Formats: sequence, C-alpha cells, structure tokens
Amino acid sequence: MKTSRFGYLPAWAAPSGLLLALAACSTVGEPPEASASMGLIIARDKCGGCHQTGGGGESTNERAPTFAEIVDRPGMTPEALGAFLRDSHNYPIEMGFRLEPHEVDSLVAYMIRWRSEHSPLPNS
Ligand code: HEC
Repeated sequence: MKTSRFGYLPAWAAPSGLLLALAACSTVGEPPEASASMGLIIARDKCGGCHQTGGGGESTNERAPTFAEIVDRPGMTPEALGAFLRDSHNYPIEMGFRLEPHEVDSLVAYMIRWRSEHSPLPNS
C-alpha cells in the first residue's frame, strides 16, 4: 500500500499546500510574456469593476472613462498610456493598485485595440 505524499497532513492541508506552492512559483522566475490576450484578462479582472473595458456601453463607475474613450484621447499614444500606468502616482484615488511591468505592457497592447479608426496611431 502506498502512502500519499501528503499522508502525514490532514486531508484539507494538501490542497492548500499545493496552492502555496503555486503562489510561490508565480513570484519567481520569468514574468509571463506580455500580450493583448493577457491584457484582456487583466482588464476584466482589475479594471472592469469601474471601466467599460470592451467595445460598447457605459463604465460601471460613472466617473471612470471607458477604455475606448481613454485611447481615443488626443495624444494618448501607447507610450503615453504605458507611462501613465507604470507610475501609480498618476492614478486617481479610486485606483488603489499597482501593476507589474508585464501587466502594463499587456494592458497597453489590449487597450490600444479600442482606438476608433478615426484616430489612427501617429506612426501607422
Ligand atoms: C475603483 C475604480 C477603478 C478601477 C478598478 C480602475 N479605474 Fe481607471 N479610473 C477610475 C476613475 C474614476 C478614473 C477617472 C478619474 C478622473 O478623471 O479624475 C480613472 C481613470 C483612468 C485612466 C486615465 C484616463 C485619463 O486620461 O484621464 C486610465 C488610463 C485608467 N483609469 C486605466 C485603468 C486601468 C488600466 C485599470 C485596471 C488595471 C483601471 N483603470 C482600474 C477608476 C478606476
């Protein structure tokens, strides 16, 4: 008869031990590669509570501009958006979080897709 690896722990401890191991893994090693699809996930997770992060409709928080409005602002280039998001001192008081550099890159890649065709990127 085989004893499980967690045989000496009560049954509930094994899954939480596994979770701890996973959490530890995610803080070391390479950050995930930035991508627009990762940006979508981050946007839904961290921004969707206030901002309209998709194509249409109003933001949940009426003071928060929609992502489409943000990226359509004059002068809002990917660089400007990235610079804004990288420095949490810029944030309005409501936005009490910090973003990892790869999260900023992913969000910029995702958000910039909501530019309307009337405001093309300056260098495209
Ligand atoms: C708790 C609510 C809340 C959350 C969550 C939130 N925001 Fe905001 N955000 C706001 C509000 C409110 C404003 C507008 C503040 C103002 O105009 O004074 C704002 C403004 C912004 C602006 C500035 C636009 C500009 O040029 O003025 C950007 C960019 C932005 N948010 C991006 C994000 C991103 C990206 C996330 C997710 C990672 C996020 N926000 C999450 C409430 C929120």
